[in-house]
Amino acid sequence: VYTQLAAEGHVATALGSGTRVAERARPTGPPGPAGRLASAWAPMPDPLPRAFATSNPGRPDPALFPRREWQRALAAAVRELSDADLSYGDPRGLAELRVALASYVARVRSIAASPEQVIVVNGFAQGLVCVTRLLVRVHGEPAVAIEDPGSTGTIDQLTAWGARVIPIPVDAAGLDVGALDRSAAQAVVVTPAHQYPTGVTLAPDRRHALIAWARRRDALIIEDDYDAEYRYDRAPLTSLHNLDPDRVIAGGSTSKSLSPALRLGWLTVPAGLADTFAEIKASIDLGAPTIPQAALARFITSGSLDRHIRRTRSVYRRRRDALVNTLHDSAPGLHLDGIAAGLHVVIRLDDDVDENELAERAVRLGLDAQPLGRYRCRPDRLGLNGLVLGYARQPPHQLQRAVAELFGDPDRS
Ligand SMILES: Cc1ncc(COP(=O)(O)O)c(C=O)c1O
Repeated sequence: VYTQLAAEGHVATALGSGTRVAERARPTGPPGPAGRLASAWAPMPDPLPRAFATSNPGRPDPALFPRREWQRALAAAVRELSDADLSYGDPRGLAELRVALASYVARVRSIAASPEQVIVVNGFAQGLVCVTRLLVRVHGEPAVAIEDPGSTGTIDQLTAWGARVIPIPVDAAGLDVGALDRSAAQAVVVTPAHQYPTGVTLAPDRRHALIAWARRRDALIIEDDYDAEYRYDRAPLTSLHNLDPDRVIAGGSTSKSLSPALRLGWLTVPAGLADTFAEIKASIDLGAPTIPQAALARFITSGSLDRHIRRTRSVYRRRRDALVNTLHDSAPGLHLDGIAAGLHVVIRLDDDVDENELAERAVRLGLDAQPLGRYRCRPDRLGLNGLVLGYARQPPHQLQRAVAELFGDPDRS
């Protein structure tokens, strides 16, 4: 035993003075590979992507995750998968899931795509990684336009994987396609149905202008359809994908409808790029995990996903109504955006209101909140001052109490 401990450096033996526990080797001289690699990585500002580091108004209520139905789907998947399925799978994703997703996106978003065009990814975030890798291969350091204000997670994924982002302003009609046209962008990531975070819809003339831009520029449009399932008051415009299936990559995710913990999403890609995306996905991780994919396929085809979305949509609608009504009662002049869909609203604030201070107070009151500035690339906040307030995770009475306190008489709080 002593010989072994000495060989592994745990004890030190010296002739005549016995055996002692060895002092831990202290690093001296220049940093070793770990130190060098960590400092080379230093440009990444914090260990967690900014979007998820703190309060996130876009997240669903984890308490609503359908544990029993998911367990059933998972158990059936484990029981029914063949031995061959338990090896490495098709990097595009499990065939039965791609069939289920192709019919799901056709039904929910009117996207006409064959199962061959569906690529299963580990959340939309990884979908963006795949797209970025394609663009990097083609353009070197691609210039990718993003919405401003927009998703910080999108910026994190694009820049971490080698793209240069070009912020393009969003106004009441969505992305400013004129500004996009004046930029050097070679691709664009958009949230046309319900812009994140402002909640505006890309106006019909802008949709057509965007497609015309992509044709002129020979560019790809990446459509982040992040909250397709939660529309409360009116039917959404169909996916941009339908306007030009050869230029639009549409991405969806289970992160809002089920849970971010699944890390399951999909891209519907132009038919001519399906093999390329299969290759890119394989180069990243050899394909998404088969067992959860098989569970999701069963969850969709059994009707459980539709039932779960119907149930949660009505829960979220009640929470939204409670939030909006209380806001109207507590602060009648407030201007709200994005109430028709999603899991959050945007409260527009006068330029002299401190959005950071208000967001901090909202978080202290238990609300999911962020200042609109967190999503803004432009330093000037004039006309863009606001509070992004999530309503997914609290029952109506808690939302009402917190919001009344946030905007009500300060002497009462
Ligand atoms: C606008 C937007 N896009 C994409 C994502 C990331 O989605 P996923 O969890 O599928 O990677 C989020 C997550 O909240 C989001 O808000």
